[in-house]
Amino acid sequence: MRVLGIETSCDETAAAVVSDGYVILSNVVWSQVATHHPYGGVVPELASRKHIEKIVPVVEKALADSGEDSNSLDGVAVTCGPGLVGALLVGLSFAKAFAYARGLPITGVNHLHGHIASVYLQPDPPPFPFVALLASGGHTNLYYVAGPMDFEHMGQTRDDAAGEAFDKVAKILGLGYPGGMVIDQLAQQGDPERIRFPRAFLDKSGFDFSFSGVKTAVARYVQREKEDSSKRIQDIAAGFQEAVVDVLVQKGISAVKAKGCQHLALVGGVASNRRLRERIKEATQEAGIAVHIPPPELCTDNAAMIAAIGDYQLSHGENSSLDLDVYSKTSHSGRPQALAQPGNLRLPNI
Ligand code: KG4
Ligand code: ZN
Repeated sequence: MRVLGIETSCDETAAAVVSDGYVILSNVVWSQVATHHPYGGVVPELASRKHIEKIVPVVEKALADSGEDSNSLDGVAVTCGPGLVGALLVGLSFAKAFAYARGLPITGVNHLHGHIASVYLQPDPPPFPFVALLASGGHTNLYYVAGPMDFEHMGQTRDDAAGEAFDKVAKILGLGYPGGMVIDQLAQQGDPERIRFPRAFLDKSGFDFSFSGVKTAVARYVQREKEDSSKRIQDIAAGFQEAVVDVLVQKGISAVKAKGCQHLALVGGVASNRRLRERIKEATQEAGIAVHIPPPELCTDNAAMIAAIGDYQLSHGENSSLDLDVYSKTSHSGRPQALAQPGNLRLPNI
């Protein structure tokens, strides 16, 4: 089965063709970073407009790169949420028109389930059950994954997501947007032990996270030390990164132990962080746990992961109808929190 995946939940316009749920035939990502960079963050209205401009050329390139034409596709998978509603609507509207015109089945995909599926696209997919640590710009969640669509939510951030903390700290340090990659690079030249920022483990036996405290601690530190040029920005970046990595590594490993399983998947944009990858490999090896991490280009937003989970949904009859809608948030079960439910609609009396 060949599935066209489409992803427009935030600031990447992405399309990919995946065969049998795990063979990537093409994977095209158009990043809008240059558009949003001057504003220091994603501007939702600009994101929607850029998706409208790019969706057709990005899908055309994905088809051309795959060596397939639209007649050899078996279905379309599209992200329906969570994400920016205007941005999601561009991908969904395009996907519906594309599927309808070619008589193809369509399935709506949860972006977070897509991130988890990114681990099936690399050579070493984990067997079920496994624990997935998803750390991205919008989410930091732990799941117990008992089957391809069987996700038990174990914990999440109570405030900032890990990637959001990277982006906010980069802003505090005057490094621009987005911040994860820049901090990752700067930290390589810094001393992670020189400045110790707080680690919020919250309830030690629980699996929730909190990253707003470490961000505030960096802001206070920068304010306090601004006269002292000996406090190298590289050390601040390395110290902050180490605090976030410590929490992610320890919570990830204790979640695997709590569930009595042997496999941990690390997914989402923050999973492309070099220090996190290195530390989690060391720590899991010590703990006798197998860790599975997709290559960096599959950790950040892409459509191959959407096609991967879409393949499973389509082959299990989870086809969507053309009244499929977008949603901005998901409940812990992964089910959409509907924007407007029929019972809530107030129709005017005509
Ligand atoms: O998964 P993703 O592409 O989009 C969301 O679903 O949010 O994640 C984007 C987030 C951003 O906050 C970005 O700063 C962070 O992932 N990120 C990184 C790195 N690369 C991207 N954070 C730390 N280190 C990196 N190398
Ligand atoms: Zn994402």
